[in-house]
Amino acid sequence: MANVVSNSARLLHAGFVMARYDALIPTDQLKQAPWPARALLKLAKLGRTENLNGGEHNNLTAALTQLGPSYIKLGQFLATRPDIIGAKRAFELKVLQDRLPAFGDAEARAIVERELGKPISQLFETFGPAIAAASIAQVHKAITLEGKTVAVKILRPNVETRFRNDIDSFGFAARMIERVSKEGRRLRPVSAVAMLEESMKLELDLRMEAAALSEIAQNSKDDPGFRVPEVDWARSSKRVLTTEWIDGTPMANVPALRGKGFNLNALADTVIQSFLRHAIRDGFFHADMHQGNLIVDNAGTLVAMDFGITGRLSEGDRLFLAEILYGFITRDYVRVAQVHFDAGYVPDTQDVSTFAQALRAIGEPIMGLPAEQISMARLLTQLFEVTEQFQMQTQPQLLLLQKTMVVTEGVARTLNPNLNIWSSGEPVVRYWIERKLGPIGKIEQAGSSVMSLARLGLKIPAMIDDAHRIIRKLSDMAKSDTPKPSRWHTPALLMGAAALVVIAIKMVLR
Ligand SMILES: Nc1ncnc2c1ncn2[C@@H]1O[C@H](COP(=O)(O)OP(=O)(O)O)[C@@H](O)[C@H]1O
Ligand SMILES: [Mg+2]
Repeated sequence: MANVVSNSARLLHAGFVMARYDALIPTDQLKQAPWPARALLKLAKLGRTENLNGGEHNNLTAALTQLGPSYIKLGQFLATRPDIIGAKRAFELKVLQDRLPAFGDAEARAIVERELGKPISQLFETFGPAIAAASIAQVHKAITLEGKTVAVKILRPNVETRFRNDIDSFGFAARMIERVSKEGRRLRPVSAVAMLEESMKLELDLRMEAAALSEIAQNSKDDPGFRVPEVDWARSSKRVLTTEWIDGTPMANVPALRGKGFNLNALADTVIQSFLRHAIRDGFFHADMHQGNLIVDNAGTLVAMDFGITGRLSEGDRLFLAEILYGFITRDYVRVAQVHFDAGYVPDTQDVSTFAQALRAIGEPIMGLPAEQISMARLLTQLFEVTEQFQMQTQPQLLLLQKTMVVTEGVARTLNPNLNIWSSGEPVVRYWIERKLGPIGKIEQAGSSVMSLARLGLKIPAMIDDAHRIIRKLSDMAKSDTPKPSRWHTPALLMGAAALVVIAIKMVLR
């Protein structure tokens, strides 16, 4: 009962803040709202100063920013879901920045001392002010006693409690929605909140981020043009992460990168190839690859940081993706359809031929385009839209991959607007296809994963032909590319949870 009261109070507070910012009901629709809703909105706005936010179009953004960390994350998710909040609002939310005022230096030092169990003077020669502050943590630049410059990331005080409370409220709203609304149930808000909780647990434990950095460093130690900052384990804990300081140029500053004489086209290729290598070869990828998390060091190496959100793909997932790509490139839609059934992703109650027909509707227009207009991300996005219609169970890890791919393609295209995703990714994808779908890969995989010996059949010569054809096809697709920048960062693990508060409040107002 106490929970119900505190959760309701928190949700009401959220509704109240949104109402103050006109974020609940767009002004042009206000007249059609029922009178109690209009009255409540008027009440909420009492005493509001007119210049509360940067203009009417920023209402939702301003409200969510005021509501704090969990709601900023919520907004970032909603920005990727025009199907839930409408295209206009999703677009407005794209300007939502994950930036908040920093907490004080004294507090930062106190947290470091408490976490690492030593006074600052025994840890650092100098400890500077915050250089960046976001919803979960802030970063300070410091110099160790050994004279190494480092970045010290510190969790916001009480952020764990705040998240726990907000997640509780989202869970409460989710259960209510599932109980009363059929449409709401389709969005599976309860499981979405559970996922959000899982992902937040990882993001709020900086030891996990340190371990992710270390794992990626190991996986990518021989990768050309890519690295991650080294972890200073002795100065890291659950709430403090110390890493090697990276001197360089932020990825967002393209003119500066050009000014330094870096080859931007080569850098764009490195962005795409590194991401694909990690996802496909290693099955472990950075799932927050927006520009703010990428720096080009003075040697021209791409350095990725901020590994709070990562994705994992099992051997089966990677094979599944290989099959899909293979199927689309060879325009074998029945095969693409069949893979979904074999993997158990689409229920047997669905019809393979009809599913293949729907896949053809995606594949033919895309594959018929000139290479420069093809986007891997768009292909996967459309694929998952269709599979949803065929009751494919949501595969969060694949969704995360697809959403990260959208962001990664966007970053690469701001460096090279003519980037051709296929030619850039081709060396990595070719390795993947040869390894996994070529004869050697087939034999290795047979019986061990999604593939079965039955499917391997006696078709090895045909498969060699196929493998050659596919590689040729990939090479042929290499030309130029159409600019389609998509810079926005889409933390996909916030799935569904995002919609809850807005839907709940809308329902209350209905
Ligand atoms: N090792 C580092 N070297 C240089 N700058 C860093 C380093 N780590 C973080 N930063 C700076 O701090 C910012 C925030 O760090 P990040 O790890 O992305 O935290 P957040 O989760 O708050 O986004 C980065 O965008 C970058 O500008
Ligand atoms: Mg960051």
